[in-house]
Amino acid sequence: GTDKSLDRDCTTLSRHVLQQFQNFSPEAQDLSALMNRIALAGKLIARRMSHAGLMEGVLGFTGEVNVQGESVKKMDVYANDVFISVFKQSGLVCRLASEEMDKPYYIPENCPIGRYSLLYDPIDGSSNTDTNLSLGSIFAIRKQEGDDLDGDAKDLLAPGHKQIAAGYILYGPSTMLVYTMGKGVHSFTLDPSLGEFILTEENIQIPVHGPVYSVNEGNFWQWNEPIREYVRYVHRTEGYTARYSGAMVSDIHRILLQGGVFLYPGTLPKPEGKLRLLYESAPLAFLIEQAGGKATTGHQNILDVVPSKLHQRTPLIIGSKQDVAKVESFIQNGH
Ligand code: AHG
Ligand code: MN
Ligand code: MN
Ligand code: MN
Repeated sequence: GTDKSLDRDCTTLSRHVLQQFQNFSPEAQDLSALMNRIALAGKLIARRMSHAGLMEGVLGFTGEVNVQGESVKKMDVYANDVFISVFKQSGLVCRLASEEMDKPYYIPENCPIGRYSLLYDPIDGSSNTDTNLSLGSIFAIRKQEGDDLDGDAKDLLAPGHKQIAAGYILYGPSTMLVYTMGKGVHSFTLDPSLGEFILTEENIQIPVHGPVYSVNEGNFWQWNEPIREYVRYVHRTEGYTARYSGAMVSDIHRILLQGGVFLYPGTLPKPEGKLRLLYESAPLAFLIEQAGGKATTGHQNILDVVPSKLHQRTPLIIGSKQDVAKVESFIQNGH
């Protein structure tokens, strides 16, 4: 028979996406092409980051402040532009919305044939760029609904259930791409010598409970009492281990594989917290639910939240079912 390692090497991302469908329908072909473009963006970003310490103009700040009120890194801008470039002339995506752009970006030559919208966080964990630590990109694909002739992208103000695909790219010791199209969660590792993402694990299931506890405890002083009580509970209970990297893609990837909970709760001055619904929380919620986990604001499932604006923030508690339920119970019942 054929060499087993050959079978493995041939399970590329684009083949895997096509296998998610029963046929070679136009939608299957679109989604396979879309995922291929996202993979190309991941490869371009990974390549640039691997040379960061060797090249001028990769690291550091641009001097601009984005719509979030954050200082923009050169890498944020590069990665933002990469996603735009890979979708130009694609006929697939008419509109992109990202953390780094006030308003959606239109690719007129793809409209109206390109019936999909891409929502993305080009670099997740920007603060890790200048110290050579793990980073991510987060993406979600939605069908464009209506004609959006006035270009206000109102149809994007819909809950996470409208996502047809979502995932992330993790730039760590190796580059990985993890995605869902509503039929399980699958991970791929970039083989740099082939330039292809090769299947690593299919149908990943998150443990129902796990040891990892991931939160920025430096915010303790500005949390409300239920979150403080939960954290005190963790401190006096055996079996938890704290891990917080500054990039939630890497923290959540660890939790996907080992189980546990990541939280970014609201604070007293900012009850909505920091993370943005449409291109951070909702894609990760879709993926973690598909793996058998849970994602909530503390009061509502993330995928049910209807945003009222593009850059809306929500508190996020995400991970293993039991561990998320524990945090929820502190928020709702005080214990
Ligand atoms: P981004 O770099 O896309 O702005 O997002 C950073 C997010 C997330 O990745 C991380 O877990 C969190 O912000 C870190 O924020 P704090 O420094 O406030 O903990
Ligand atoms: Mn940011
Ligand atoms: Mn982010
Ligand atoms: Mn970002």
